[in-house]
Amino acid sequence: MTNDVPVIAIDGPAASGKGTIAIALAEDLGWHRLDSGLLYRTVAYVIDQWNLDYSDPETIQDHIRNFLSFSVGENPPNADSHKQIEFPKVSVHVQIQRLTGSKVWYNAQEITPVLRSEHISRLSSYAARIPTLRNELIPIQRELRQPPGLVAEGRDMGTVLFPTADLKIFLTADVAVRAQRRFDQYAKDRKQTYEEILEDLRERDRQDMHRGIAPLKKAEDAIEIDCTYLSVKCVVEKVLQAVPAALKVA
Ligand code: CDP
Repeated sequence: MTNDVPVIAIDGPAASGKGTIAIALAEDLGWHRLDSGLLYRTVAYVIDQWNLDYSDPETIQDHIRNFLSFSVGENPPNADSHKQIEFPKVSVHVQIQRLTGSKVWYNAQEITPVLRSEHISRLSSYAARIPTLRNELIPIQRELRQPPGLVAEGRDMGTVLFPTADLKIFLTADVAVRAQRRFDQYAKDRKQTYEEILEDLRERDRQDMHRGIAPLKKAEDAIEIDCTYLSVKCVVEKVLQAVPAALKVA
């Protein structure tokens, strides 16, 4: 791992605005961005598609090893970049892109929008409780620590993945405000009521905070920002103000 490459770790509960803040920061700094939640969503999708058994983590781990491939770049994957596989004849390819956001292909078909559905959100929180699976995803995420820097967002970026991150942010917001934001975000093809989204977020937070491995919690040295009453612009400004001191840039 390239420990000398700077990292900003952003953690927080569901729909707290981590993604939006991470994109703004990565763009401003010209750094790579890791949307770690997308990896858990991908795995949840695979478990769902292939009807894998949550009580059989070894098989899930095997599937991840054999059928998931990852790459960093700005172009769609070509056939060569998929892992050669025997059975079943499928491959999942996650491409981590610096500016336009990560994309995921399942058998060469892009499935990124499907991964954002509330169905997959719910399943991802189950998948995220499996220790072997989390361990499998650690090196993939750490590989992203590449020059000139990485903005990493998720639940365990500051606590487990990048404990030596230069700057750690813990974003919170009232759950009712988070539910309203997610409700507004999916305005075009909304499938859930506000109350259903609120209940899902509460349940996911509960699971994420109370699981045995890498639970969602604030790293001791993280700066906590409550964005219940703050605009995205305001939060980005706050974080950007903290960057020079954290990176020891004059
Ligand atoms: O965007 P949102 O905050 O709703 O979710 P996400 O960041 O895409 O993460 C989806 C799920 O993946 C979470 O509810 C967690 O259970 C899990 N996750 C995790 O366990 N660790 C991470 N570093 C990122 C996500």
